[in-house]
Amino acid sequence: MTKRVVTLAHYYTQPEIQQMADKVGDSLELSLYAKEAQADIIVFAGVRFMAETAKILNPEATVILPDAGSTCSLVTQTDVAELTQWRKRYPDHVHVSYINSSAEHKAVSDWIVTSRNVDDIIAHLYAEGKKVIFSPDRNMGGYLNDQYGYDMPLWSAVCEVHDKFNEAALDEAFAAAPGDKYLIAHPESPLPVLKKADYVGSTSGMLNWVKAYQGDPKAVIFVATEDGILYNMGLARPDLDLRQAPIYAGCQCNSCPYMKMNTIAAVKRAQAGEGLVIDYLSAEQMDAARVPIERMLEFSK
Ligand code: 13P
Ligand code: SF4
Repeated sequence: MTKRVVTLAHYYTQPEIQQMADKVGDSLELSLYAKEAQADIIVFAGVRFMAETAKILNPEATVILPDAGSTCSLVTQTDVAELTQWRKRYPDHVHVSYINSSAEHKAVSDWIVTSRNVDDIIAHLYAEGKKVIFSPDRNMGGYLNDQYGYDMPLWSAVCEVHDKFNEAALDEAFAAAPGDKYLIAHPESPLPVLKKADYVGSTSGMLNWVKAYQGDPKAVIFVATEDGILYNMGLARPDLDLRQAPIYAGCQCNSCPYMKMNTIAAVKRAQAGEGLVIDYLSAEQMDAARVPIERMLEFSK
């Protein structure tokens, strides 16, 4: 019998990869799609934590990551044994973890969040009188502390891509751009960049902001995130002057090396059943990691 293959792609993959996919989206959308997918094989053109999340939510499916090297610096900068020791220092806190984390990390968390629902979930916990610790992204956690006056202790890992955006390069680019200018940014960016932004949100959130933009069509809109999504923004609004935020003068060149490992050849091989099969998580690990993920999905319904 022919196997049903479903291919998912994150916005940061190259346009040709997105064109090969059944569904393109942000982390939350792709997790939900993976959970409901009627598939024998799910090819996840993204990074490893995303493929692991898909497997945890749809354990019957064979989940394949096209290139085993597609990791994420938020994962590699977090030693889960050390994280577990850190968590023990806050026994009366709720541990909220960003979805950009390994399955092992998720299994020692109380809630998982994505960049789409992190504000609402943490606001909900504080409204219930809870104390919160946040891992692994210190930029995202620092932004939430600054924005809402929280005092969350933070784990200290960063996205090596977004952490390169900086105020000085932005100031120069703003000064050089004529007329109106805007900045939209992903919350993995450093705080001085986020403080300058007209909008901060997930990849889908930024895309929706661009789609809904009603201002001067001649304005320059700087986008502080990985370059892949500029493709989607350009398709949606070819009338706008959209530019990736620079990381130094003249450079619109900030891309995620792990997302870009999803080449056409690697995705085709994965669709034929080859690649990193996510079969190394034990049933106990998956059960433990599923609890905080399902808590988030239930909240976000
Ligand atoms: P989104 O959930 O906003 O798509 O972000 C995923 C990611 O890895 C950003 O670097
Ligand atoms: Fe990880 Fe950053 Fe790449 Fe997103 S862009 S997958 S956070 S390294």
